[in-house]
This record gives sequence, C-alpha cells and structure tokens, in this order.
Amino acid sequence: MDENPFLYFYLVLVLGTMAVLVIGHVYKMVRDDSYGGFPPGNKGLPFIGETMQFMAAINSRKGFYNFVQVRRLKYGDCFRTNIFGNTQVFFSSKEAAKIILSNEGENFTKKYMKSIAELVGNHSVLCAPPEHHKMIRTRLANLFSTSSLSNFIKQFDELILQSLPTWEKKGTVVVLREALAITFKAMCKILMSLESGEELEMLEKDVAHVYEAMLAFPLKLPWTRFYKGLQARKRIMKTLEKIITLRRKGGVEAQRDDFLQYLVTDEDKLASSSSSSSSETLKKLTDAEIRDNILTMIIAGQDTTANAITWMVKYLGENQEALNLVKTEQLKLAETTSTKSCLTLEDLNYYMPYASKVVKESLRLSSIVAWFPRMVLEDCEIQGYRIKGGWSVNVDAKSIHLDSKFFNDPDVFNPSRFNDETKPYSFLAFSLGGRTCLGMNMAKSMMLVFLHRLITTYEWEVLDSDSSTEPWAMFSRLKSGCPVIVTRNKEEEKANDE
Ligand code: HEM
Repeated sequence: MDENPFLYFYLVLVLGTMAVLVIGHVYKMVRDDSYGGFPPGNKGLPFIGETMQFMAAINSRKGFYNFVQVRRLKYGDCFRTNIFGNTQVFFSSKEAAKIILSNEGENFTKKYMKSIAELVGNHSVLCAPPEHHKMIRTRLANLFSTSSLSNFIKQFDELILQSLPTWEKKGTVVVLREALAITFKAMCKILMSLESGEELEMLEKDVAHVYEAMLAFPLKLPWTRFYKGLQARKRIMKTLEKIITLRRKGGVEAQRDDFLQYLVTDEDKLASSSSSSSSETLKKLTDAEIRDNILTMIIAGQDTTANAITWMVKYLGENQEALNLVKTEQLKLAETTSTKSCLTLEDLNYYMPYASKVVKESLRLSSIVAWFPRMVLEDCEIQGYRIKGGWSVNVDAKSIHLDSKFFNDPDVFNPSRFNDETKPYSFLAFSLGGRTCLGMNMAKSMMLVFLHRLITTYEWEVLDSDSSTEPWAMFSRLKSGCPVIVTRNKEEEKANDE
C-alpha cells in the first residue's frame, strides 16, 4: 500500500463520487416524487401509507372527513396521501372537478375501495369497470323515467301520510330514524313491491349492517363490522335470488309493476316494448347483476335521502325566516291540493320554488356525499400537478360547497342564495358528468313531499343543536339523529275545526 500512495486517494475519490451520485439520485427521486410536479402531501409509512390515520379519523369523534379537512388546511386545494396501499389525491377546486367529472370513462373512472365493492358487489353500477358501467347505467336509467317518477311520488306521499300522524303520539321523535324507515319502505316498494312482512324486516336490518360496514376496516373476523356486513350481504343476496326466481316462474308475481319486473323482463319483450333502437340499451342484465344493483339502489336511495331529510328538518327548525317563507308557500299549495289525495309531479315542479331552494341549500350545506373517488387511467396533469395512471383522484365536493369564493357566508343556511344562478361545478350534491346520481329527481321529490306534509301538519322544535356527524358513516349522518317535539300546525288545526 505504501508503494502506491495514490491508491487510497483514488479509492476515496471513486467511492466519494459514487456516494454523491447515489445521494443525488435519491434526493432527485424524493424531490421529484413529493414536489417536483406531483401534489404535496405525506405518503406515510411504506405499504400502509396513512391508513392508520384514516382509520383513526373514522373511529374518532371527528369522523372520516376530518382526515381530508386537516390535510386540506395544511396543503391547500390539492394534496396527496396513501390509504390501503393506494395513492389518493384530493382536489377541492371546481376547475379540477370539471376536468375529472367531465372525462368520466375517458381518463377517469369511478373506483371505490375494494372492501366497498365486496359489500355492494362487483356488478354494482358503482363498481363495474367503464365499459360494463355504461351498459348497466343505461339499463337502470330507464327505471327513472317521468312516468315512473310520477308513480313514485304518489307512493311516497301515501307512505308519508300513513306515518306522519303517528309522530304526535310518540313524544320525542328522532327524525333520522323515521326518515330511514320511510325511505327504506319507499325503495323496497318501488324496486320490488315489498311492502311488509318478515322478509322486509330482515332486509332492513341486513341493509343497515352492509351500510355500517362500508367504511369499516376490511378485516374478516366474526366480531368485526366488516365481517358482519359481508354476512348480511350473503343473506340479502339469497332473499333477492328467491324473489327473482319467483318472478321468472311467472304467475301473479310476474304481474308486478316495479323496477325488478322491468329488469327480469326477457330481452325480446324488451326489444318490442322499448322505443330505443340501441342494442346496448336493450341488453338484459344477468341475475347476479340484478341482485347487486337492487342492493346498490336500496343503499344509494335509502341512506342518502334519509340523511338529507334529517338535515333539512334541522336547518329549518333552526332558521325561522326560511321556515316562515317555506310555510307560506306550502300552505298556499295545500289549499289547492286539499281536494286531491296525493301530490303530483306538477305540484313539485311548479308550485314549490322556495321549497326547492330549501332542498338545494340543505344538500349544499350537508354535503351528503362528501367526495367522489375516481381512478386515473393514464398519466395526466391536473391543475399543473403530475398525476400518474393507477392513482385515485377524489373530488372534494364538501370543500367546494363551503368555499366562500362560490357561496357568500358559506356556513349560513340561506335558501335564497339560489335565486342567483350557481357557478358551474360549484353545486355538486348529485355529482356531474357520466356518473351523475341516477336517483337525483327521485331524491329531490322525496325531500319535497316530506317537507310539504311535515310543514302543513306540524310545528317542530329541534331538541339537540349538536351538528356532529357519525364518524363511521359513509354519507353525512347527524349523530343526534335530530330529535324533535312536534305539535299540530295551528293553521291545520284551525282548518280542521272549521
Ligand atoms: C339526497 C339523496 C341523494 C344524494 C345526495 C345522492 C348523491 C349521489 C352522488 C353524489 C352520486 C355520484 C357519486 C360520484 O360521482 O362518485 C350518486 C350516484 C348514484 N346514486 Fe345517488 N344520491 C341520492 C339519492 C339517490 C336515490 C334516491 C337513488 C335511487 C334509488 C340513487 C341512486 C344512485 C345511483 C344508482 C348512483 C350511481 C350512478 C353511477 O355510478 O353511474 N341516489 N348519488
């Protein structure tokens, strides 16, 4: 070694150069990956990312949206995280919402966590891959025609008229509980003509288990919420299979005029009865597809609408001015409708302008579906950020709804704000684009009918002003359930006395 004093020098030089190159490369990778064009954020631990923090938020008092809110405050309109091994990017600007929602099926497609797909089924319109989604959506969309909606409004009104009179005798009424029962019945009736009996009661309990499991940690052990949800799904599938088999056998069961009958109708019968010439429209769904989508529609229709109704009752109960305005409008309508037994689509469309704004404002402020997840099909750029194919991007509708750039005093319940036109992509209660809520008009109708009957029958006092939400719930759910005390509406009492 002594003979070659330069050997050490060369060795140190080579190793040093290599170390500098490696460190430089690693630094570049880290810098590029975190900030060099990619959205800011914390990827968390290897493999599990920030899953633990996400689950902690779900199990804490603050709820799962708090996970998003905290990061939004830290990083701004766009941030990146990793949940269950997937990179998730959240956007809360309407520009990003437009890019993502209007390119459905092209570069973005809906993607829920695997555990949700296991619960609602791979054939569900919520989870099906893009080419399949289009076919299923087209088939289901036919169920939401104007005539079907008119029929539904009548059925829903009858249900409300049956259940509202019982409220008075109950003392304290928990609005959410009542609304869940009513919307569940409404869904089961329009979908499968199920109106009462053991089967309906079992279904109601099992659907609740599936719903409760949707955000649970996907651990399949007998005591976990996820496992119980999967077991409930199995029982629901069996019940639906039985009902579908009966329909296929024909006879009285096959005479039903409901969504299920439409779905099991033979291809050739469909072809002759449909006005559309597209063969895709007429494609028959398999029994597995029908089962998954009936369950999907019960969940999509029951919980969302019941929660929205509950928030609406709370907001109105706490806002005298809005309450007075909507009451005047609805009592006026009641004068003209008293001669007929049920409300009609025309009543809802033409004689409830302020109530429609109440509905819209309740949906904005409660943001029942807080964010919309999509999978990125190919590398792209959104708002200057590099986004990789395979990542999930999420439109954070709740932040947009509460952004003062689009809504003055965004935390205030003010239906009249909708006197002015809303800015495009700022009102996203039912999403937009190729995945817009299929039951949008049905949901709005339920809220309007409920509001009309409630306000023309009762006055109510909200007993709990707490606005905290259920942390585990997939859709924004008021923890208190909104307990109220009702008393007969004085105007109605007067009319009855006369
Ligand atoms: C107030 C009540 C409701 C709200 C706030 C609501 C909201 C939404 C939203 C935001 C989406 C799209 C999510 C996304 O883009 O990722 C959606 C999709 C959907 N909704 Fe609703 N919804 C309500 C009621 C209903 C009802 C009553 C039904 C029908 C029974 C229904 C059926 C569906 C279906 C089938 C989809 C999936 C559409 C698709 O992926 O192509 N929803 N809903």
